[in-house]
Parts: sequence; structure tokens; C-alpha cells
Amino acid sequence: MGRLTGKTALITGGTTGIGLATAKLFLKEGARVAIVGQDAARVAGAAEELGAGAIALNADVSCAADMAAVAVRLKAEFGKLDVVFANAGIARPMPFSDVDDDNIDHQIDVNFKGVIHTIQSTLPLMNKPSSIVLTSTAMIEKGVAGMSVYAATKAAVRSLARTLSAEFAPRGVRVNVISPGLVETPIYGKLGLPAAAVQEWAAQLMSGVPAARFGQADEVAKAVLFLASDDSSYMMGENLLFDGGMATV
Ligand SMILES: NC(=O)c1ccc[n+]([C@@H]2O[C@H](COP(=O)([O-])OP(=O)(O)OC[C@H]3O[C@@H](n4cnc5c(N)ncnc54)[C@H](OP(=O)(O)O)[C@@H]3O)[C@@H](O)[C@H]2O)c1
Repeated sequence: MGRLTGKTALITGGTTGIGLATAKLFLKEGARVAIVGQDAARVAGAAEELGAGAIALNADVSCAADMAAVAVRLKAEFGKLDVVFANAGIARPMPFSDVDDDNIDHQIDVNFKGVIHTIQSTLPLMNKPSSIVLTSTAMIEKGVAGMSVYAATKAAVRSLARTLSAEFAPRGVRVNVISPGLVETPIYGKLGLPAAAVQEWAAQLMSGVPAARFGQADEVAKAVLFLASDDSSYMMGENLLFDGGMATV
């Protein structure tokens, strides 16, 4: 029997990287899974990769109406939800002096408001007990130049887990955070920077990672499974650093 047998899960940002690896693991562990992504082609690609056991939905987490529609679909398909992995996120690195409203608004809209829309729309579907997992970053613990707005949006996400754990405890809904370090995913191709600049930046960051390698999405997925499943039943409002020692060692 799988660790999520009979359970249902929503994963936002489930079309690539950490979310897709987690969707695969959740399916393997017996869950029925729905994923959300905003790029139609990547949603279709993920649907094909995951197969018939998963529902793939095209929605923008920064749009409350989109997420309300996702919740309507999930109610019809699953009835109730046992796990919500609010993982969709973007990073737009920029020197602080260049940061403008577009940079701030876009990252807040997806990384912070997106998490709020995801949880608000699905909360009425959450079982008692159930688990919400949020994706933050090790960069909330270790300052990294160029990541001022990104890290702040993710610190807000980490804060939400504390407040919402207090607020949702009577409903039996736990809220915890996974904070990855440098993980090899397509996010590095979506930063809006030239490939050479990304490589140089990644090499510089890697020099501060005791594990001396990138983490892999399927490694992060195993930690998410822990937070999503009953294995972490006594954990609430916690932040699990998963960063090869980047922020701590
Ligand atoms: N990789 C790392 O080193 C690292 C480290 C720390 C934290 N994280 C965090 O981990 C999470 C997953 O990132 P990843 O590394 O796996 O990168 P990724 O492969 O780029 O995955 C990001 C996912 O979020 C989705 N997404 C982005 N904007 C969205 C929106 N407005 N609405 C719906 N979905 C949206 C993407 O879908 P589309 O492709 O359709 O846009 C994709 O499925 C993010 O929150 C990221 O900040 C990553």
C-alpha cells in the first residue's frame, strides 16, 4: 500500500521541475493527482507524461477566478482534497537598484497572491485531517544578491504557514513549508537572463553549497511526500530546509 493510497492531491506548478517530480511520486504512492500550470503546451506535455491517473489543468495561480474554476473542477472530480502542494513560483533576479514595479508585482502576484488564491479556493474541499505544503526557498535564510524581491515573497510564504497553521488547526489542516536550495529544474531557463549569465551565477552560488552539487527534483519530491503524508502528522507551521547545507553549514 502506498503512503497516499486513497488520497487526493492538488499540485500547482505541476507541469515541470519539483511539481512534476512530486506529481509522479504521489501517483506512485497511490494518490489521485491534479496539476496546474499556466503554459498550455507544458500542461499538455505533463498530462501526457503523467498519464490517465492525473488531471492537468491550465490556470494562472495569480488569478483568483482561475483558481476558483480549478476548485469547481476538483470538487466534481475528487469531491474532497487531502493534500494541496502550493508550489507554483517564478524568480526574476535583479540588482536592487533596478527593481521596478513590474518586477515586484509579477513576483508578488505569482509567489504570494498565487499561494493565497490556491489555499482560499481549495480550503472548503480540504478533508479533516489534511495537509498543505508551500514551496519557499533556502534564500529566505541566506542572503543572495539579486534576489531581494523573490526572497521576500518566499519569506511571506513561510510566514503564511505559521499563521494559517494557527487558523486552520481546528479544521485539522496542517500547513508546512519546503525550502529547497539549488535544484536542477527548468526554472533557471525562465529567469529572463542569458544562459551564460545563469551558468556563471549558478557556479558562484554552488561554491557556497557544502553538498557541492545541485539537488534533484525527485529528491525534493520525497521531502514533500513526507510533509504531505501522515508521516509528518505532528508537524505544523514548520519549515523544512532541503538545500545541501547551503543556508546552515
Ligand atoms: N529550482 C530551484 O533551485 C528552486 C529553489 C528554491 C525554490 N524553488 C521554488 O520551487 C518551486 C518550483 O520551481 P521549479 O524549480 O520546479 O521550477 P519550474 O520547473 O519552473 O516550475 C515552476 C512551476 O510553476 C508554474 N507556474 C509559474 N507561474 C505560474 C502561474 N502564474 N500559474 C500557474 N503555474 C505557474 C510553472 O508552470 P509554467 O511552466 O506553465 O509557467 C511550473 O509548473 C517554485 O516556487 C520555485 O520558486 C526552486
